[in-house]
Amino acid sequence: MTAPTAKLFPRCAADRVTTALKDTPVVMVNGPRQGGKTTLVREFVSRDRTYITLDDDTVLESVRNDPSGFMRGLDMAIVDEVQRAQNFCAPSRSPSTPTVVRDVSY
Ligand SMILES: Nc1ncnc2c1ncn2[C@@H]1O[C@H](COP(=O)(O)OP(=O)(O)OP(=O)(O)O)[C@@H](O)[C@H]1O
Ligand SMILES: [Mg+2]
Repeated sequence: MTAPTAKLFPRCAADRVTTALKDTPVVMVNGPRQGGKTTLVREFVSRDRTYITLDDDTVLESVRNDPSGFMRGLDMAIVDEVQRAQNFCAPSRSPSTPTVVRDVSY
């Protein structure tokens, strides 16, 4: 968890994610445990890009049961802890596919 008053160090990865999101349907943020992945990807939350975490067992269950349906239900989203769903599917190559920032922490 990030303390609301914490002063955050700037992350060069943030610029890379910004650039990648301009033309890449799926952007994966990978890094060591407690390396700041969640904090970084949450900077990209907006009205159109919601944050979803597979740490939520209800969400995880729905992904496991129907990964394609889960993806269809998304427009743009940040999906955290995707490693919890081994069947999490990358979107198809259609131009209307969701933009997903994945936060993978192994
Ligand atoms: N840019 C930053 N500057 C300073 N501290 C940071 C920064 N980013 C994250 N932190 C701190 O590092 C800790 C871990 O952050 P965070 O939860 O985002 O990491 P994570 O990689 O998602 O962790 P996990 O592997 O457990 O999912 C938190 O205490 C957070 O406040
Ligand atoms: Mg995290």
